[in-house]
Amino acid sequence: MKKLVNSLLAASVIVSALLGDSSIEATKVSSNIDTINCKDDIWKSADFSKVTLYPQTTIKFNDKKANEINAKNKAIVAEIAAVYNNSKIAFMIKWPDGTQSIQQNDKTDTYSDGFAIQFASNYSNPKKLPYIGMGSEGREVVVHLQKETSKTYEPNGNGNVAYQVNPNQTDLFGKDLEKYNDLVKTLGTRDYERTFVSEGFRSMSEIKDGSSKSFARIAYTGDGWKGTLSRPLKDEYLNLNSAVIPVAFAVWDGDKLGRNGLKYLSAWTAVELEGKPGSDALLSALYSDVKGDAKRGKDIATANCSACHQLTSRDAANLMGPSLTNIGGYSTIDYLKESLMNPSAVVVPGYNRNAHSNYAWYNIDNGKRVSSMPGFDWMSAQEIDDIVAYLKTLKVEVENAQ
Ligand code: HEC
Repeated sequence: MKKLVNSLLAASVIVSALLGDSSIEATKVSSNIDTINCKDDIWKSADFSKVTLYPQTTIKFNDKKANEINAKNKAIVAEIAAVYNNSKIAFMIKWPDGTQSIQQNDKTDTYSDGFAIQFASNYSNPKKLPYIGMGSEGREVVVHLQKETSKTYEPNGNGNVAYQVNPNQTDLFGKDLEKYNDLVKTLGTRDYERTFVSEGFRSMSEIKDGSSKSFARIAYTGDGWKGTLSRPLKDEYLNLNSAVIPVAFAVWDGDKLGRNGLKYLSAWTAVELEGKPGSDALLSALYSDVKGDAKRGKDIATANCSACHQLTSRDAANLMGPSLTNIGGYSTIDYLKESLMNPSAVVVPGYNRNAHSNYAWYNIDNGKRVSSMPGFDWMSAQEIDDIVAYLKTLKVEVENAQ
């Protein structure tokens, strides 16, 4: 935050940044953080920032029960810190959750609590960051995902045969069952830990070749979770050696049947690495105040956008386009502007096109996705600013506000 206050002079910018989420100042350390977990003393001297995670409401989930449970979700505030040394960067995320949910590997209807940390592969242009929900075509992200799962017998240690032995099999009794349970204890896989590169939902590929050497842990504390991730500052997919990097955070609540897109999501958040090269243009891109007038923007949006978009939770759901009810929580000003002026620059994939052919959010032209949203580049700059100011107000209130 220090740097932000120094580098941005406009008073309004500073005020809005202080009221909303702020950047995260990573602490430089000299010790080894390769296998850091939440108990490490390093976190005592780290600087925790509050980051708000909004319910991702882009797509109506295809699960009636889950939709009902999550209909009134508020945003939650996580506390996040980062430390780095010469080769690694590590994060700790603490978030409130009254129930510990662990997926049972032998059941299909239980879901885990968990977290993900997302990095932009290319962040040289802060106005064109990847789509916050798993990246977008040509704008790749790297996502580290960590969930707590029950242990499964996994004899070869590859992490890919979690389902080969059913722990409930009925032909094991007495001593055999004990023996089996002991085996699970010693050979059981650790928690679900995966790294993906993604250019959009449904185009994720897991990094399995060992080239991404990350280490993640998750621990329940009684009223919430602490998750940690350590990863290289630089590897084949990412170079995080920069004064300011964009990072986004997500958490799942298994008790609320959360999985996949049913999660809580932050906006791109700036993490500052003192002493690294690069400009702080990203800070002003992420924390500048809106220029427009939200009240005027509301009128323009109601007239031009509500035929396809649900704007607030009081409006009926509208399948013609993404729900914008939390768009102000997890989107940047530049993303919103781009969405209006040039809808096909980032295309939100939408529903399964085969199942919901009436609601295709895009068409494919010469192999490229073309949004079915009309561009609003004919509007005046003032009107665009006003709409963006209004969109930034669209977000639910915060659950654990202090
Ligand atoms: C004809 C229907 C239609 C109209 C009218 C329309 N949109 Fe869209 N909009 C879409 C569709 C479909 C998408 C998803 C595909 C894409 O990303 O372009 C979308 C995407 C968006 C996104 C990105 C959402 C996200 O989750 O990232 C924003 C922001 C947006 N629209 C804002 C607006 C605003 C503001 C207006 C009015 C000025 C508007 N739209 C008018 C159909 C529409």
